[in-house]
Order: sequence, then structure tokens, then C-alpha cells
Amino acid sequence: MIFEFAALALTLVVGAVLLLFGAAPAWVWPLVPLPYVLRHLYHLTRLAHLIRRRQRLTAPFPRGLWGEVYGSLARYQQRGRKGRKRQVRFSRRFRQAADAVPDGLVILDKLQRIEWANPAAAPLLDVHWPRDEGRRLSELLAQPDLTPFIEVGEYLRPLEITPEHNRALMVSLRIAPFGEHKGERLIVARDITKIYHLNMIRRDFVANASHELRTPLTVIAGFLENLADAPATPTAHRRPLSLMQHQASRMSSIIEDLLTLSRLEMDDQDRAQGPVDVAAELEPIVHEAQVLSEGRHRIECRAEADLLLIGNQVELRSAFSNLIHNAVRHTPPGTRIRIRWNPDANGARFSVTDDGEGIPPEHLPRLTERFYRVDQSRSRAAGGTGLGLAIVKHVLNRHDAHLLIASTLGKGSRFTCQFPAARALLRARPLSAAAEERYAQHPGALVSTAT
Ligand SMILES: Nc1ncnc2c1ncn2[C@@H]1O[C@H](COP(=O)(O)OP(=O)(O)O)[C@@H](O)[C@H]1O
Ligand SMILES: [Mg+2]
Repeated sequence: MIFEFAALALTLVVGAVLLLFGAAPAWVWPLVPLPYVLRHLYHLTRLAHLIRRRQRLTAPFPRGLWGEVYGSLARYQQRGRKGRKRQVRFSRRFRQAADAVPDGLVILDKLQRIEWANPAAAPLLDVHWPRDEGRRLSELLAQPDLTPFIEVGEYLRPLEITPEHNRALMVSLRIAPFGEHKGERLIVARDITKIYHLNMIRRDFVANASHELRTPLTVIAGFLENLADAPATPTAHRRPLSLMQHQASRMSSIIEDLLTLSRLEMDDQDRAQGPVDVAAELEPIVHEAQVLSEGRHRIECRAEADLLLIGNQVELRSAFSNLIHNAVRHTPPGTRIRIRWNPDANGARFSVTDDGEGIPPEHLPRLTERFYRVDQSRSRAAGGTGLGLAIVKHVLNRHDAHLLIASTLGKGSRFTCQFPAARALLRARPLSAAAEERYAQHPGALVSTAT
């Protein structure tokens, strides 16, 4: 600043001296500020040139105001360069991380076209980036469920597929919302071949073991019965024999339940589906429950007679009877049990409510696990196998339904099966026999709601 004022002052002084002493002709005066102006002009053009060429400003810089301008601009440049470097480094690290992830990652734009994919997506999904950029994922993976799955965007439920290019693989696909535009998605593909096979081995093992145990047990139970009935059997042996018979029948219930569970787990199993008259199904179950209760419970059933449910009759019957029998088995005498089957805002609902002792909250999340019981000895004495709720959960899964358990200690419990609207239909509607048959074949296509 001072330098700049000094230069200006010097120019003025020289001008004044020339003017006062008349030492120079008049045309010289305008030339007096010329060096001053030229210096500014020079720096301005030079700076404009450097900036236009995006050249780096390097020291040494001129003195004065121009030096400051050059210096500040150089600092700006340096800061920008550092920021860009950091950004490049960051995106490189990020890319390295995405490349190192063992799961396949694919970014889809809002039209479901591939924008980017990591190397792991190649062996899992046959998506090669950048080769496949801009192509639709459904073109590469000929899976009929894929497009609706991506469009619906159920972020919690994975889709399990066997890709066309490698039939030995089992891949689980998940979707995550992504980016700032709606409709952009990140697909995460995970190789679950091993888990899938282990699961199959476990399933087959349980099914085979149960099958193998069934025959010897039938033989043992048969002989026990003969012995118990034979007049020659000593009286002292009768009680142990009856206990053995009881245990044998418990074992056979467990085996039957295990086999039911195995059958339910075979997803590909072809099962009959059709409109099930739930109210009619409930009648014999309620009767059985009354027999089981021996009059110790007050059982009351209110079912919407016109409300039908699309599903498998045998499976649904087993689920409903499990819940109703539980309410009898696991509540004290005098308990009131209310059974309801009715339409609701989401579709249709089946519920069993009791005012028994209730279940402590810490047990609720685990109740549907196999062999999980709140009170082991009491439940066994009540005649349960510990597999009832596991069966209920599987059946409901296969009917796109959910099991909701609500219980308050000292007040009672409520087990609710929530079925989607697509599975409920009202008989009151003019449904021809042919239409019913068609619904039976394509239950998924049914949109008639029961509300
Ligand atoms: N209505 C109910 N009231 C209280 N406890 C219940 C009720 N229903 C189920 N439970 C508890 O849940 C456990 C698991 O039920 P389940 O899987 O049907 O097995 P099981 O009835 O064979 O014991 C039962 O052992 C019992 O402790
Ligand atoms: Mg049970």
C-alpha cells in the first residue's frame, strides 16, 4: 500500500516540478504518469493471461499492491489444488473399498439401468462394468420376479435367485434406496450358496431322521399296547407300561410335528390352494378344544361365515388348531377364550384371545422358535411338542401373513394372524363356481378385498 502511494506521490512530485519550473514543454506533462499507468497495465494483462491459461502463479511476485494480489491468488490456487487432490484420493479409496467388498454392488438409475457395478457383481450376477453400463438389469438376469421386486423396493426382504449364467449359485438380492433422485437404487448381491446348502442338509436330515424313527416307534407303541391290554400282564407292570405308552405317543407327536415342519419348509412343494371356508374349518377345531378343556375353559367363537381365505386347507387348519389348543393348554381353568375370524382394514384377521396368566415379555420374540417354551416342564405336562408356534409361523409365511403376539402378565394373551387383502374374499359377492376355480389356480392374482 505504502509502496503504491509512494509511486503515485513521486509521479505527482515530478509533474509538479516540471510544471513549476517550466523545465519542459507542455506536451511532456501527459507523459509524466505514463510509467505509472504502463506498470498497472502490464500487470493486469499478465494476470489475465495467466488466469486464462490456468497457469500456476509462482514467486517472485512484484512489490506493492500487485504483489499482494498475486500472492493471494497463488494461495487460492494452492488451496483448490489440495482440495481437488483430497477429493481424488477420497474417491479412489472409496472405489478401492467398493472393489474389495465381496458382495456384488450394482447402482441402478431411476429407469433401472445399470450405472455402475463393482467387480464382485461379475461372478454373482454376470454384470460387467463398464461393459454393461446403460443396460437394464432385467435384461441381463432373466428372472421374472426381479422387476416387480425392484419396483416394490421391499428393503428388508431379500430375493433369492439362481442366476442363469451359473446354475450352481444361490444369490440373495437386497435393495437399498440410493442417491438423491427418487427411484435410484443400490442392489446388493450376496452369495448364499453355502448357507442354502447347509440349510438343505439340515432340513433333509430332520426329515430323514424323523422318517427313520417313525417305523420303530410304531412297532414299540404297538407292542406296548398289546402288553397293556394282555390279561397275563402282571398288575405291577401296568403303570410303567401306561407311562411308556404315554411317552411313546408324545414321541410320535414330536415326529409328526417335525415332519410337518419339514414339509412346510420345502418351498417348491406343489400344494393345493383354494378358497377355504374358515368358519366351517373352525367348528371341529373348537369342538376338539372343548374336549381337550373338559369344560374347564369358556370357549367362544365368532367367525364371519361369508369370509373365505385363499390358501391351503390342511395347513391353515393346522395353524388355527395350534393356536386354539395352545389357549386351552397353557391357561388355567376358568379362562375365557375368544376366537375371532373377521375382515379388517388390511385384509382378514384370525385371532385367539385368552385372559390367562399371560407371557413375560422377554419370551415373546422367541416363542416361534422350535422347542422354545416359557416353562419347559409345564408345557410338556400340558402335552405340547414345542413345535406348534413354529408350524404356525411357517404356515403364515406361506400365506403372506404375519403372526402378532401380544401378551400382558396377569391379563392374558392374544395371538393374531393377519392375512393380506389379496387372500380374502367374500362369499356374498356373485362368485361363479368357475371364478372360484380360477382363483384357486391363481391366488396371487386375486384383488378382491374383504372390507
Ligand atoms: N395362549 C397362551 N398362553 C400362555 N402361553 C402360551 C400360549 N400359547 C403359547 N404359549 C407359550 O408358548 C410356548 C410355545 O408354544 P408352542 O410352540 O405351541 O409349543 P407347545 O404348545 O407345544 O408347548 C408354550 O410352551 C407356552 O409356554
Ligand atoms: Mg402348542
